Amino acid sequence: MQLVTEENITDLAADRWGTAQDPRLAEIMTALVRHLHDFAREVQLTEEEWLAAMLWLTKTGQISDEKRLEFILASDVLGLSMLVVQMNHRFDERATPATVLGPFHIEGSPELAFGGDMSEGVPGRPLYIHGAVRDLDGRPLAGALLDVWQADTDGAYESQLDVDEARLRAKYTTREDGSYCVRTVAPMGYTIPMDGPVGELISRTDISHFRPAHVHFLVTAPGHQPLITHLFEEGAEYLDTDVVFGTKAELVVPLVTRDPGSTPDGNTSSEDWLEARYDFVLQPT
Ligand code: BEZ
Ligand code: FE
Repeated sequence: MQLVTEENITDLAADRWGTAQDPRLAEIMTALVRHLHDFAREVQLTEEEWLAAMLWLTKTGQISDEKRLEFILASDVLGLSMLVVQMNHRFDERATPATVLGPFHIEGSPELAFGGDMSEGVPGRPLYIHGAVRDLDGRPLAGALLDVWQADTDGAYESQLDVDEARLRAKYTTREDGSYCVRTVAPMGYTIPMDGPVGELISRTDISHFRPAHVHFLVTAPGHQPLITHLFEEGAEYLDTDVVFGTKAELVVPLVTRDPGSTPDGNTSSEDWLEARYDFVLQPT
């Protein structure tokens, strides 16, 4: 009989989890057990603290549903999501870097033509984001798909509102010359949801709970790795304190104010509009 002691509990538990039939699961579970035990030893975890952690995890599960992804939010604010993104997308330096997906992407956005307005009915300053999707050598990628989504000027995503129609999200396909044009409204910085266990924990720190103004992109093209990224507004507040560690210098673009007149989609605007130019460069598979 193997008696359990404080000294041997870690080896016993790691050995037990090392029996997982899938070798990768065995590797992950034994490492997880060792790191969890090391953590508890390092901080000399008390029973009250252990119970508080269990209750926090319970609440994180209870508040979650298919629209409220509190565990992803927890991973994001701990920097784990961004670490996993970076380890798994070590792209060529010419490629556009990836960043976090976040919890607000919705499948099945409507397809819009070049310059189609994904912000119809939503107030805000008109913004055209345009450029091309290219390969590492700068060749245009025709037929690439850009799935685009963003928050409104109150910082709310569609999945946080009770709406029937697609709101501030759309898909665009690049033309023969690789070009695309998104018509939307200027994004604003916003707070992550603070009414759950993640927010409760953050409110006990000096951490800023805001994200800088950005628009989300998921860009796909045959023969290339899907690119999940954002474009951030140059000069935006919170760029250097993004609560989910998602900012990258290469993803920061100026939003330039243009006078009324012709717009990148070939139409004319009777009011001032903002222009952001950006070429997405995809990593081959
Ligand atoms: C977002 O940008 O939509 C987001 C990302 C991570 C956590 C919360 C929001
Ligand atoms: Fe966002």
